[in-house]
Amino acid sequence: MSEAGEQPGAAAGDPAAGGHGVDDHGSSAGASGPVSASGPVDDHDQAARKRGTTVHGEAANAGHRVLAPDDAEVEAYLEVALDAGAPERPEVDRPGGAVARGEPSASEPDTVVVLDFGSQLAQLIARRVRELHVYSELLPHDTPYAELERRRPRAIILSGGPNSVYDEGAPKPDPAIWNGKIPVLGICYGAQLMALELGGDVLPAAHREYGPATVTITVEDRLFAGLERDQPVWMSHGDSITRLPAGFAATAQTPSTPFAGLADPARGLYGIQFHPEVVHTPRGREVLRNFVLGIAGARPTWTPANFIESTVNEIRSRVDTHARATGGDGKVICALSGGVDSAVAAALVHRAVGDRLTCIYVDHGLMRKRESELLRVTFEKSLGMNLIMVDARERFLERLAGVTDPEQKRRIIGDAFIRVFEEEAAKIGRIDFLTQGTLYPDVIESTAPETKAAQKIKTHHNVGGLPDDMRFSLIEPLRYLFKDEVRLVGVELGLPEAMVFRQPFPGPGLAIRIIGEVTAERLDTLREADWIVIDEIKAAGLYRSLWQSFAILTPLRSVGVMGDGRTYANVCAIRAVTSEDGMTADWAKLPYDVLGKISSRIVNEVPGVNRVVYDISSKPPATIEWE
Ligand code: XMP
Repeated sequence: MSEAGEQPGAAAGDPAAGGHGVDDHGSSAGASGPVSASGPVDDHDQAARKRGTTVHGEAANAGHRVLAPDDAEVEAYLEVALDAGAPERPEVDRPGGAVARGEPSASEPDTVVVLDFGSQLAQLIARRVRELHVYSELLPHDTPYAELERRRPRAIILSGGPNSVYDEGAPKPDPAIWNGKIPVLGICYGAQLMALELGGDVLPAAHREYGPATVTITVEDRLFAGLERDQPVWMSHGDSITRLPAGFAATAQTPSTPFAGLADPARGLYGIQFHPEVVHTPRGREVLRNFVLGIAGARPTWTPANFIESTVNEIRSRVDTHARATGGDGKVICALSGGVDSAVAAALVHRAVGDRLTCIYVDHGLMRKRESELLRVTFEKSLGMNLIMVDARERFLERLAGVTDPEQKRRIIGDAFIRVFEEEAAKIGRIDFLTQGTLYPDVIESTAPETKAAQKIKTHHNVGGLPDDMRFSLIEPLRYLFKDEVRLVGVELGLPEAMVFRQPFPGPGLAIRIIGEVTAERLDTLREADWIVIDEIKAAGLYRSLWQSFAILTPLRSVGVMGDGRTYANVCAIRAVTSEDGMTADWAKLPYDVLGKISSRIVNEVPGVNRVVYDISSKPPATIEWE
């Protein structure tokens, strides 16, 4: 949809900046390779992660919590509580109200399909294409050609992958994709498949290439239009193409790879051995642009404004149709969590159905300072929405009294949330739809292990044992969007930046950042300290570059001196991490002066705290949250 907008901290695909690594072949990064904790995912790394388990006994790399944390919790509560039926989805599930058969609808965006051969970077390719304003979807590598055709893609991109093309069971596409009807770009493993399947040769290279390299463009080729002859690129391969299939010409080479680029323009088939999707290939975007907009001729219409228009129309027509068919009012509800996903989902639905939408916000008292206020101002005052704010602070505190076990806290909060929500929903009368902020990464069927893990995540939030007599249809307005696109849509909808670019915040809120019992007093202490952390991080211009930054109230007390007196007060910890998706994280190297300011302000301004420490643990083996 537009600019990178990756989660703060690291440009996605920038291995050195802590994005996923690009070693599709599972080798170690080597001396020149990236080294951050959330850096390259190679065999060694994976093995190390498998060995480590979280405090909950789950594999540290299993993404045991959530990928898009700020709203997932609310959703999981609701899914269980309301036993909402599966959403009605068209056979070909894509934006623009496309129907399975027949002509494309006017609002249907041009599409590029990325076939996923198991690379950690497959999602990133789709995101890069979307940055060119062309809709891109990720599908399993073995998607039948008939299914691909039904989606009317303008082009197909084959991702890299960890296999060798000669591995037993190496993933292969439906061979019909080579028929020349739809342009195909093979990247790395995808390029090797293209060569091998069409009659060329691929062999283990004498020198595997991993890391930065220079390719030399040897012929004028549309894929490389506008590029200098020598290009810095990122390579990651063990096998190499050694003979081209008939009809292909070599288009680029490196000193050790004679066929770093291959093309059969007559059939629209292109292959590149390097990774254009990572930031270490500086002109990679131009290569993708040349393919997607040039060779494939896709129209760049995937923009926030178009997305909003078509989504709003779709929701409106679905709700109206349902209301006419059932004689109902077409009432919709949405639970607001304070996070960006539910906020954007609610704003979209509100545009579509206006007053028929009611938002429910359960104020459990575990939010950050001024968050409830921001929510009220935005949704009630600015957008004029029906907003029910339930003050359940006492109720949550009562149920949390005496509880110190983190998982017990989560269960209690989940359960209390559902009960409050149900009570409020019951007061509204008949409801037809529930809005959920499901995102694209939650719905794609991917072959990459991390995405598979992500798909299981919601089960961790199962709170269980709840009444299932409330059934609604689901509206999932964000199901085609990546997180960065959700933010852009939020901006376009006029939501405040403070809401749209908020760092993730866990569903159970401050309760899992107070180690030990949660009391009103300790919540106040933490809320004040947390506010100072955010305030100083923002003042230093670091907020968006961090995945999360926050304070933790430890159960420790330590001795201090203040004025003439001795104090014996709380120790507050500061946590700031960079991360791509929360599954791995690196502690942020905050400047000393920022840390110094945070520390002195907390000690001076927050009663009951006399010592501040900084957490320098990465994930794994630590987690981001302390509980
Ligand atoms: P950990 O602590 O597991 O956190 O490294 C990974 C990401 O998940 C968030 N998180 C949660 N989000 N409910 C949520 O909605 C939870 O119970 C929860 N626990 C952790 C955490 O803030 C981080 O972004």
